[in-house]
Amino acid sequence: MSEGPDQVGATPVGPQRLQKVLAAAGVGSRRKCEVLIAAGRVKVDGQVVARQGMQVDPALVQIQVDGKVIPTQAGLVVLMLNKPKGMLSAMSDDRGRPCVGDLVTDRHERLFHVGRLDADTTGLLLLTNDGELAQRLSHPSYEVVKTYRATVEAPIAKSVARRLRAGVDLEDGPARADSFHVVTTLQDRAIVQISLHEGRKHIVRRMLAAVGHPVLELVRTRIGSLSLDSLKPGQLKELPPAAVRKLYGESVAPAHE
Ligand code: URA
Repeated sequence: MSEGPDQVGATPVGPQRLQKVLAAAGVGSRRKCEVLIAAGRVKVDGQVVARQGMQVDPALVQIQVDGKVIPTQAGLVVLMLNKPKGMLSAMSDDRGRPCVGDLVTDRHERLFHVGRLDADTTGLLLLTNDGELAQRLSHPSYEVVKTYRATVEAPIAKSVARRLRAGVDLEDGPARADSFHVVTTLQDRAIVQISLHEGRKHIVRRMLAAVGHPVLELVRTRIGSLSLDSLKPGQLKELPPAAVRKLYGESVAPAHE
């Protein structure tokens, strides 16, 4: 991924009590966080915390609860966007074309988009200043599943699901769906749902074209546990800390790290 980790716009806040930092990150009440610390379930920079009241600078340390990294840097935000059709996944465009950056000109954080959707694709796109989260959500090795609904021509042979799950050959290598099913069929059109955990350019369009069903419309409906739900095109929603923490928990660290 080219955008992201070196653009983090978190605000440094200085040292604070560990239970206050954990509570602010949505782990639970301060009292609950003290109980977690007392139970030896909290680590700071890889070391189990043995005492209450430890001072930490959330912008400088890594905190884990039960082995899971807790996003604690003050000033980090994650916004869900339902990207409208015709809008570029870019924060600015030197040719003046509409881009997602136009929707967040009132935000003071230095936001960037996590991965890309084609201009013609609508649906869930995240904007954040959290480089670590962006890396986790974008890189296939973290195995965060993205789910799409595509409109294609019907009928769809039973073999299509099997072929997509087994992997289809694309010009830049094979691509495999984690799951595929037909949601509904209306006369000569079908809506299909496909999930995968990689993000190569036009990957869904190319996979469906490879099995004889070029995409007519494409919407990304989920990233991990996050769902587009009732978010309207062009609408933004800031994620609460607990939802950000859940996303961190869902991204499985690569074995070599
Ligand atoms: N796959 C595509 O083909 N297009 C997108 O926008 C996203 C995934």
